[in-house]
Amino acid sequence: MSNNKIWFITGAGRGLGVELTKAALAAGHSVVATGRNSAKVAAAVGDHPNLLCLKLDVTRIDEAQSAVNAAVARFGGIDVLVNNAGNFYAGFFEELSPEEVRSQLETLLFGPMNVTRAVLPTMRSQRTGLLLNISSTAGIAGGMYCSAYAAAKFGLEGWTESLAVEIAPFGIRTMLVEPGFFRTELLTPDSTTFAQPSIQDYADRSKATSDAWSGMSGTQGGDPAKLARAIVHLAGLEVPPTRFAGGSDAVGVFKAKAQALLAEADAFRELSTSLAHDE
Ligand SMILES: NC(=O)c1ccc[n+]([C@@H]2O[C@H](COP(=O)([O-])OP(=O)(O)OC[C@H]3O[C@@H](n4cnc5c(N)ncnc54)[C@H](OP(=O)(O)O)[C@@H]3O)[C@@H](O)[C@H]2O)c1
Repeated sequence: MSNNKIWFITGAGRGLGVELTKAALAAGHSVVATGRNSAKVAAAVGDHPNLLCLKLDVTRIDEAQSAVNAAVARFGGIDVLVNNAGNFYAGFFEELSPEEVRSQLETLLFGPMNVTRAVLPTMRSQRTGLLLNISSTAGIAGGMYCSAYAAAKFGLEGWTESLAVEIAPFGIRTMLVEPGFFRTELLTPDSTTFAQPSIQDYADRSKATSDAWSGMSGTQGGDPAKLARAIVHLAGLEVPPTRFAGGSDAVGVFKAKAQALLAEADAFRELSTSLAHDE
């Protein structure tokens, strides 16, 4: 991908979205930076002649279409869509309400689908584009207290991997980014909702785990500005990776998962491969 591309970024008012916007502008690209509050986005990313700030709540299909229309009207197309907006519903599955689980999927899975649905006709007509979805190591490996978040991120991974094959003939590529722990606002009360403790059997672990997650906020090892620059670099490659492990912790998760899958394929190989009809 050559320089001076048009980027469209969701959730650009805080965290990684702000850094992505700054990194893409610094690399010479034009950026449509979007968020639920466009004034907040503008204040966070600052002024730039190649920048357009727009209102977009990713759970709103109508807002996705309006923002895409405005982006195309201003810049003539969209080359890179970054589905970045996110939040975290933390808690044991039994203590998360059905509404909380649905809300998690609305933001992390249906949100990217809404925005992508609005962008793809433009990318198809251009016969080029990059769909860049910010997943998580929780999209590779599940873990305690993350069932809703991991369900959404695993969904994002499966959807992206499938969509990739459907849109490749139109010159549109996909790239998933799986960050480990980065120092953004994700673990602050503005982005994290803890399930209300309601089941005595979980009480001890619930308190310890919510304290641990809250305590991590502001101390995560990953630098989101560095991650943003890495993403902008990778998006500019002729063949961007289909997955990128963000951080050394993420590399560890990738390797452990790959090894676990290989071991599981081997553990019952004879039984697994004995299941065809006899004829
Ligand atoms: N930080 C990490 O360690 C980490 C690790 C793995 C994956 N990730 C992923 O990285 C992405 C960015 O998160 P972050 O770490 O930068 O978190 P963050 O600092 O909390 O920022 C989240 C951003 O998403 C926006 N957002 C939330 N719901 C939205 C909606 N319905 N429509 C539009 N925007 C919405 C927020 O906007 P408001 O200001 O309006 O709330 C905010 O700008 C997320 O997809 C997250 O899952 C982060």
